[in-house]
Amino acid sequence: MGKGQGPLERVNRSAVTAKMVKKLFIKSYGCQMNVYDSGRMADVLAPLGYESVPAPEGADMVILNTCHIREKAAEKVYSELGRLRRLKDAKGDMVIAVAGCVAQAEGEEILTRAPTVDMVFGPQSYHRLPDMLKRLEGGAANVLDTDFPVEDKFDALPKVGGTGKGKGAPAAFLTVQEGCDKFCTFCVVPYTRGAEFSRPVAKIFAEAQALAAIGTREITLLGQNVNAYHGEGADGRPWGLAQLIVELAAIEGLDRIRYMTSHPRDMDDALIRAHGDVEKLMPYLHLPVQSGSDRVLNAMNRQHTADEYRAIIVRMRAVRPDLALSSDFIVGFPGETDEDFEDTLQLVRDIGYGQCFSFKYSPRPGTPGADMKDQVPEAVKTERLAQLQALLNQQAKAFDASMVGRELDVLFEKPGRHEGQIIGRSPYLQATHVVAPTSMIGKIGRVRIIKAKPNSLEGELVHSSVREVA
Ligand code: SAH
Ligand code: SF4
Ligand code: F3S
Repeated sequence: MGKGQGPLERVNRSAVTAKMVKKLFIKSYGCQMNVYDSGRMADVLAPLGYESVPAPEGADMVILNTCHIREKAAEKVYSELGRLRRLKDAKGDMVIAVAGCVAQAEGEEILTRAPTVDMVFGPQSYHRLPDMLKRLEGGAANVLDTDFPVEDKFDALPKVGGTGKGKGAPAAFLTVQEGCDKFCTFCVVPYTRGAEFSRPVAKIFAEAQALAAIGTREITLLGQNVNAYHGEGADGRPWGLAQLIVELAAIEGLDRIRYMTSHPRDMDDALIRAHGDVEKLMPYLHLPVQSGSDRVLNAMNRQHTADEYRAIIVRMRAVRPDLALSSDFIVGFPGETDEDFEDTLQLVRDIGYGQCFSFKYSPRPGTPGADMKDQVPEAVKTERLAQLQALLNQQAKAFDASMVGRELDVLFEKPGRHEGQIIGRSPYLQATHVVAPTSMIGKIGRVRIIKAKPNSLEGELVHSSVREVA
């Protein structure tokens, strides 16, 4: 466990422990798992009297749950810390914590660079938050905890859903796997999240059941490498993701299952089959390919070719013809030529995606890619990203437009921006709004799509579905 060093920065310790409601503000900067972790941090702190608030002003504790994936994401944290320092100076007694992947990667450096920070802890140690607060309260100048624990973090966290009373979110994340052993040459995740670890089936099942009991209708199984899942099953053997999904699909009240993020190498036969057999598995898959060039894929250590990726998609579409796809792309990886980039564009044209994410390559300290020769000039990256995004946007627009006139099941999640409107997600994760009573929130309704807007779909409830579920 790290010991607090760095300049003394005393906070009002009584505010940390007094038995009264304390305001907690957590900001997530990263992936879905980072968002899940933020929720779990709030769960850990709730028994100590912390209640979540939507803004840092007036908060007793602020946690920045950081992301290290690209330079921009990491740098945001320091500008936010500048703002927080002023809030803390004005209030006098605010605990500022930096959590997540920047904390894991930079550790003590954060305390040196931003002395206003009281706590730095990584994604594998946040279950120890109560103990860290005690150390602050006991007079530690600050607390640093970036160790990978020997104990199971998930065992130490409070149970999801608590007493089973109250209302859960209609759609929730559930972490089933963490870490990564693949070491793609551009990526920090194996360093910030550690080795691959799969939670046992029974524990995931219990968490999913608890979520269903408080009204959650959709779960997204999360993992940095979720389809490499190999948790202990009921028979004591390792189960794959497909077996886990089949098990979870039996939970009554749980109507939709998704998973992310997958790696093409782990798309095994059983999982492909599950897409045809398990109706609750949504027909939308995020399967990042990063590049369409075999040369670049090899340099990235992705360990598959572009044609192998194409072949997986063909097999998946054969079992689930209405499957839509999404991917991540990196442009300007070291050594990427115009020809390599053209191969990426060609792959995109061949597959035809729903909604994708694309990034300029960002060299990350400590990864092999950062030291490779032939780094691509920034201007070339910018130009390639614009070209790729133009194509991806065109496909996304066409995909949304193809929904008009169709009937889709929508899980309603919250009131919409306009009076009388509610908003939910289609099977393809498109934000979809209809005019309907708020009593429909948390339910699935059949919606006829009437319009595709730039960032959402507009529809109307199909009459029979109103009778059925209202
Ligand atoms: N486990 C997932 C990816 C997690 S990171 C997978 O294997 O696909 C999310 C996305 O961030 C990656 O898919 C990649 O497109 C992007 N990314 C990761 N490192 C990056 C870097 N150094 N520069 C730019 N984009 C990066
Ligand atoms: Fe990063 Fe590659 Fe692991 Fe995904 S598979 S988390 S991109 S190292
Ligand atoms: Fe970022 Fe860490 Fe997720 S680096 S993408 S928050 S695993």
